Amino acid sequence: MERVLRNFFLFLSKNKLFTKLARKYGLRFGAGRFVAGETMENTAKVIEELNRKGMDVTIDHLGEFVDNEEEAKQRTDECIEAVHVIAEKNLHSQLSLKLTSMGLDISEELVVENMRKILEAGKKHSVFITIDMEDYERYEQTLRIFQQLKEEYDLIGTVLQAYLYRVEEDVANLNEYSPNLRLVKGAYKESPKVAFPEKKDVDENFKKIIKMHMLNGNYTAIATHDDAIIEYTKQLEKEHSISREQFEFQMLYGIRPERQEELVKEGYRMRVYVPYGDDWYGYFMRRLAERPANVGFVLKGVFGK
Ligand code: FDA
Repeated sequence: MERVLRNFFLFLSKNKLFTKLARKYGLRFGAGRFVAGETMENTAKVIEELNRKGMDVTIDHLGEFVDNEEEAKQRTDECIEAVHVIAEKNLHSQLSLKLTSMGLDISEELVVENMRKILEAGKKHSVFITIDMEDYERYEQTLRIFQQLKEEYDLIGTVLQAYLYRVEEDVANLNEYSPNLRLVKGAYKESPKVAFPEKKDVDENFKKIIKMHMLNGNYTAIATHDDAIIEYTKQLEKEHSISREQFEFQMLYGIRPERQEELVKEGYRMRVYVPYGDDWYGYFMRRLAERPANVGFVLKGVFGK
């Protein structure tokens, strides 16, 4: 049943009509539990609160599958504005974004041009930018663009997904860039031709790449809500005397907030991924796919408390 629900929500996450309707009608159905706000103004308050609790943030300017140049430009300007607000308000925050929001599906030239504008703003205000990893169809192109931009800018990172069979090879190949990488299990519905279908294999591969990247001496963001993976990382830290300056944990806004605070109290760096913006639909559906228990929140959102 869980797998059926997961596939159902992942299918819904790609529906373009629902994406458009969601933008038009605003945050609904309990999405506010996972999305900080539709404007940067509201979101800044959420970031300040998290910073007060000792947590760093990466704000995610929600948006994906943009198919016209004008909209890609508008999303780019919104990201630049977010960088300015981070700087003006002195927020402890980075920025995360998706290349499809910046025009990846329109042309590579356009997406690189838009990314350079955002990275220039990041460079000017010392704001780190992470390129989220999307579905496998766009994987190689995303890695290629990351490598190209990494040669031009320091404050840029990307994400690798443990569910991919090839990910170990990619960790090894990217090592020459000493990249700051976020490592995750992977959130998209992928074919068993490219990704492990079984959770236990994904978990094993996740541990493998965390160890590889950390022992290569690179900055590692371990993005998970899974206690077994968190414990594994702590064990690595002890066994190999890895400095706490070399890694951080990351979790999503609204998921396990009490665990986030505990990790801060234990003296670990904790970064919360805070999504904002009107393009919340695909993100919200993927969160439901991960944990059908969250559907309860949706029903409350639809039918009241
Ligand atoms: P998993 O979903 O396997 O959960 C493991 C355990 O965690 C559960 O058994 C439970 O114990 C606990 N848990 C999980 N959710 C809980 C909840 N709501 N309440 C209580 N306990 C809970 N993906 C991607 O493809 N590209 C990307 O760029 C990113 N970026 C990203 C950034 C950040 C900061 C995070 C945290 C995640 C991503 N992801 C992502 C998503 C990622 O790939 C993955 O889908 C989710 O993190 C879910 O996987 P977990 O590692 O949390 O474990």
